[in-house]
Amino acid sequence: MNRPVKCMREEKFARPGEVIIAADEIADIVAGLARDISRDYADRTPILVNLLKGGVVFLADLMRQLSIPHQIDFMHVSSYENGTSSSGSVRIVDDLSCSVWDRDVLIIEDVIDTGITLAYIVNVLQLRGPRSLEVCTLLKKGAESTVHMPIRYVGKVIPDVFVVGYGLDYEESFRTLPYIATLEIVDQP
Ligand code: PRP
Repeated sequence: MNRPVKCMREEKFARPGEVIIAADEIADIVAGLARDISRDYADRTPILVNLLKGGVVFLADLMRQLSIPHQIDFMHVSSYENGTSSSGSVRIVDDLSCSVWDRDVLIIEDVIDTGITLAYIVNVLQLRGPRSLEVCTLLKKGAESTVHMPIRYVGKVIPDVFVVGYGLDYEESFRTLPYIATLEIVDQP
């Protein structure tokens, strides 16, 4: 669905703008990440911890390309309480269903912007005693993140603009676009 949607807080409309990563490029990026992860975890069975909701499309494609045994689990976190800027505080809406103690954990994230969400989740999971804890993100914004931490797998560094598609939303719209695009705010639908 890519028709314009009415913005919640103002008399304007939002719609996908310029495509910055086409569907076939996304597929190549995901395949490359899956190859790297399969190589690095060749003798292990990691738990892929997916941060909902934005990361779900990425996980679904990534896990089907992994050549290693793995488990998946989900953590529903939210920091953007509708709109285009982080609220700065992270909320765990739903927690994992499994223990990560003594397990190899790989966080699967769709985008790192300020890094606040990830820093919070890394701290939470680290306290639960995983054997290892790494991060794989499809996108990382190019500007310096507020939070600095090593990110083992980065699909693509993008400009510091709000993007939608391939799981990423604007006020819950545009997650189903097969590509990643900027967001345009316009006066008329
Ligand atoms: C988005 C995105 C990341 C986070 C990144 O989630 O999926 O989890 O923000 O932002 P940060 O690096 O500035 O913390 P959001 O809170 O919008 O929830 P969603 O995944 O349900 O869309």
